[in-house]
Amino acid sequence: MINVLLLSIFYMAYSQRGQAICNQEIYLDVDVDEEIIDHTKLNNNTDIVLTTSKFLLLDAKLNILNTYTTPNNESHTCNLVSDHPLQNLFFLACQAAGMAPFLVAYKQIENSSYSVFGEYQAIPTISESFSKFAIVGNTLIIPQKKKIVFFTTVIQASSWYIRTTSYVLDAQFFNSTNLNISDFSLSPFQQDQQDYQRILVLDYELGVFWADAIQRSNNLIPFNNGIINVKSSYYIPYSARFRQVAQLKASQNMTQFVLQTYADSSYQFEYLLNNSYLSLSTTLSKYKDWNPFSSIRINNNIFAIPYQNYQHTVVIQLFNIAVKQNDQENNLKQEPTDLLISASIESLILYFNSNNTLVYRSDFDSLTLCTLSNYKVE
Ligand SMILES: *[C@@H]1O[C@H](CO)[C@@H](O)[C@H](O)[C@H]1NC(C)=O
Ligand SMILES: *[C@@H]1O[C@H](CO)[C@@H](O)[C@H](O)[C@H]1NC(C)=O
Ligand SMILES: *[C@@H]1O[C@H](CO)[C@@H](O)[C@H](O)[C@H]1NC(C)=O
Ligand SMILES: *[C@@H]1O[C@H](CO)[C@@H](O)[C@H](O)[C@H]1NC(C)=O
Ligand SMILES: *[C@@H]1O[C@H](CO)[C@@H](O)[C@H](O)[C@H]1NC(C)=O
Ligand SMILES: *[C@@H]1O[C@H](CO)[C@@H](O)[C@H](O)[C@H]1NC(C)=O
Ligand SMILES: *[C@@H]1O[C@H](CO)[C@@H](O)[C@H](O)[C@H]1NC(C)=O
Ligand SMILES: *[C@@H]1O[C@H](CO)[C@@H](O)[C@H](O)[C@H]1NC(C)=O
Repeated sequence: MINVLLLSIFYMAYSQRGQAICNQEIYLDVDVDEEIIDHTKLNNNTDIVLTTSKFLLLDAKLNILNTYTTPNNESHTCNLVSDHPLQNLFFLACQAAGMAPFLVAYKQIENSSYSVFGEYQAIPTISESFSKFAIVGNTLIIPQKKKIVFFTTVIQASSWYIRTTSYVLDAQFFNSTNLNISDFSLSPFQQDQQDYQRILVLDYELGVFWADAIQRSNNLIPFNNGIINVKSSYYIPYSARFRQVAQLKASQNMTQFVLQTYADSSYQFEYLLNNSYLSLSTTLSKYKDWNPFSSIRINNNIFAIPYQNYQHTVVIQLFNIAVKQNDQENNLKQEPTDLLISASIESLILYFNSNNTLVYRSDFDSLTLCTLSNYKVE
């Protein structure tokens, strides 16, 4: 209680200079043994919020459009959701410790009505659980501890299946002696009318590897790779361990990304691939001694970085990186503009929606919508 009070005081202090207006909250019907665990964005201003037993379709104003029970069984819990970019489909990934995961596809019937499409599909060759997955074109990307595996989703008129490919980003691909993957990040770019993805693969100890993949007939084909020697950066302690990587922007010769460590700050870098030049753009100061938590979200000039304390209270730091802070001798350290506070929770939902607003899980059973229209680029 005392902590909550203290947090409210901090919150008020921050909201005075803060710019986020968080004035809309909705309550979801969540059971005591149920957790809100994942989110994905569908087209047309519809979001899916997944819990351990159901998923809800929400519009951009947090109205609940529809609710469905997930196909959990005694072993498997559907704990991740991802949109299919080319189809009116989305997928739930259903996992169980030590058992092969499977995917369930849902197809739009009309408006916010969906039904299971085709059969449940096991993901071939995958046995470890994963904490996120992605679909680019028809390519399904599944991370494992030591590799990132590409599959193809084959969508037919009334069925679908998963085809294996020969593309695996592993230690051999990166010419590294070892790989212990803690995260990966995708960013699209175009060159000579061709679509590419820059894939950053984060190693717990070694730092950032990159791979470029070309998109041919909606299939991703990796063709080039390298390492970004972040440990050579003067700013990063040699002992740092890496938790997360999130890209802002990529082009043929350049990538901008935020790198999060476990114990130190987060860092925004720009890397030039054509001459292997790494430069620090800014350091995003850590929230006290709290632990980095959940996932960083980036929307143009706004970074949202969550932290959690041992009581599971969450603080989300909002940075407006377009605004140069004038009270610094240099611009190499950035302080947050706002702090959003959430009550004790086990997992966070945090997403930007199309209208310059941010949605976050603010309590066990509630979501809060914040307007960030004051986050202008100066
Ligand atoms: C988006 O913002 C505009 C202007 O503030 C508002 O009129 C509109 O209702 C908003 N749309 C949604 C989906 O929230
Ligand atoms: C749950 O479903 C998956 C996929 O259909 C199946 O492999 C698994 O055996 C099921 N578990 C139980 C306990 O029925
Ligand atoms: C679907 O949306 C359209 C356009 O908004 C509306 O006319 C139609 O009645 C909706 N259908 C159902 C079943 O809600
Ligand atoms: C969503 O957008 C797509 C493409 O613009 C359109 O075909 C579809 O009917 C829209 N769905 C709804 C529910 O409005
Ligand atoms: C792979 O790594 C080894 C040892 O670090 C190095 O000698 C070799 O040149 C590298 N090969 C390529 C293709 O980069
Ligand atoms: C591999 O990374 C995980 C975090 O992703 C870490 O907990 C574990 O200690 C690492 N293993 C080794 C051998 O460094
Ligand atoms: C990328 O770098 C190469 C080699 O330095 C250069 O020739 C090319 O023009 C650059 N491309 C772009 C888009 O800047
Ligand atoms: C590398 O690419 C950047 C961005 O396209 C460009 O500005 C720079 O001149 C290139 N450097 C070299 C050495 O080609």
